[in-house]
Amino acid sequence: MLDVLKIIEDHAEDVLDLPAVPHTYIRIIECNDEEEFDVNAHLQCTCQQPFESTKVAKYTIAEYKIIAQGEDTKTVYDVMLSTNSTFDYQYSPGDTIGILTKNDDEDVASVIEQLSLEEICSRIYRVEIDPATKKKAAKVPSYIPPIVQIRKLLTECLDLRAIPKKLFIRALIEYTTGETDKRFLSILCNKSGCTFDDVILKPGFSFVKLLRHLPSCKPPLELLIEHLPRLMPRPYSIANYHSDSEHSRRIRILFSLLDCKPGLTTSFLKNSCGTNESIYLYFRKSSCFAFTDDVLANDIVLIGVGTSIAPYLGFLEKRKQAIERCRNLETTAWLLAGFRYEQLSYLCREEIEQYLKSKVLTNLSVAFSRDRTTRHRYVQDHLEANKELITKSLIDSNCKLYVCGDGKRMIPQIETKIIEILSNVLSISNEESKTIVADLKKNLRYVEDIWF
Ligand SMILES: Cc1cc2nc3c(=O)[nH]c(=O)nc-3n(C[C@H](O)[C@H](O)[C@H](O)COP(=O)(O)OP(=O)(O)OC[C@H]3O[C@@H](n4cnc5c(N)ncnc54)[C@H](O)[C@@H]3O)c2cc1C
Ligand SMILES: NC(=O)c1ccc[n+]([C@@H]2O[C@H](COP(=O)([O-])OP(=O)(O)OC[C@H]3O[C@@H](n4cnc5c(N)ncnc54)[C@H](OP(=O)(O)O)[C@@H]3O)[C@@H](O)[C@H]2O)c1
Repeated sequence: MLDVLKIIEDHAEDVLDLPAVPHTYIRIIECNDEEEFDVNAHLQCTCQQPFESTKVAKYTIAEYKIIAQGEDTKTVYDVMLSTNSTFDYQYSPGDTIGILTKNDDEDVASVIEQLSLEEICSRIYRVEIDPATKKKAAKVPSYIPPIVQIRKLLTECLDLRAIPKKLFIRALIEYTTGETDKRFLSILCNKSGCTFDDVILKPGFSFVKLLRHLPSCKPPLELLIEHLPRLMPRPYSIANYHSDSEHSRRIRILFSLLDCKPGLTTSFLKNSCGTNESIYLYFRKSSCFAFTDDVLANDIVLIGVGTSIAPYLGFLEKRKQAIERCRNLETTAWLLAGFRYEQLSYLCREEIEQYLKSKVLTNLSVAFSRDRTTRHRYVQDHLEANKELITKSLIDSNCKLYVCGDGKRMIPQIETKIIEILSNVLSISNEESKTIVADLKKNLRYVEDIWF
């Protein structure tokens, strides 16, 4: 809990040195372009997207299944997105889509209330540079379309949960009337001292939460456009593969929901299940993680945990189709996967076991981290138990290793484990082992899909 009065008391004697007030540069003008304005389309759907390989297209959730749920288990959705448009894009397994997201309705409502925008939030405005600005080279951010509806602007363009920067906090003081609120903001944006780091940065205190603690702060909407960052699209791994024309018209994804503190996109997707809600998405550029046709000639080792097995479902579908086309696919595919509980959260078990039965998958190692009687808690334990085999695979020039998951812990921990195993099995130093891994990565024989 943020104790504003305590913070003010602790800094009662401080002499504050505030940054200069940043120049304002945006103005919004009401306009009568209602007819031209598509109130249904996502406001960011025509602007350039990060890593875009295609334009944004409209999909809906055609099918969905909850494939994991229960106490101490994240709820996981297996979703098929489909579009009626004549959209045709050839992707590879391992590729990702970007989903345009939306802010939480309550967050938007609280900003509308605090900024007293209730009466105008359904109206259409033009966003432009204020001709009177003193800011040099001022530009309207590229993700803000020229014509907006206020509510949609707050819902679809601005990241209300972003951590506010010191300069934004400085600018907010100009629109704050209460002395307590003003003093608190001044302490936060003081040039020296660590209150900003301790109260805002380290705990990740968002703009919308900060505003709730400042009843007398009523910034104009223009200031939010100037200072809040873009509401970014979220990437999701494509979990299916078809080589026919339906290819890009039916996209499968798996997503997990942090039930204790659900994220924006996962909540939006969850709420869209079973409805006709439009999901705006685009295909992102391929990375070296893509399972392209030439890799069918390689043995592959696939490491993923929870939903990060999603891209491998596409890999296996592609291998299955290749096997059906030419029966003599002689390469191997080894999946190492990790889940919390065998009964509750072993995702896509039947599908994976079917692939094993039909030899699309040639080796399977599954770890369960929270089952009491488990022998292997983590995929790292399976790597340890199979250290000779993984070493042989990595040394054999025909094998490619894929690792997918969280970039903070899982991905670096797998690398550390592989380095340790190579060092141990080959009786070489840790440094020599690191060099082997670095070379494997350089030659794209050890590739990672880093989720953050
Ligand atoms: C290349 C790439 C591919 C990805 N593919 C997938 C995929 O196929 N399936 C998938 O579910 N996610 C995938 N992600 C993660 C995904 O992009 C989102 O970050 C995730 O769904 C949470 O988005 P959100 O908007 O709901 O959460 P936000 O509103 O951004 O949530 C804020 C924070 O909450 C935490 N959080 C929210 N949900 C979760 C969760 N389920 N588990 C752990 N922490 C969470 C995170 O710390 C997050 O930063 C991928 C990420 C990348 C970079
Ligand atoms: N940042 C994001 O927004 C975001 C969103 C979605 C997913 N992810 C990441 O994507 C991956 C899949 O997500 P999920 O929600 O489906 O999975 P999850 O339920 O969080 O975890 C799946 C399994 O992975 C294990 N695990 C956790 N950390 C690990 C590590 N460092 N090394 C090896 N195994 C580990 C878990 O063990 P425990 O029992 O110890 O938990 C669990 O058994 C995870 O790495 C997750 O962190 C990130």
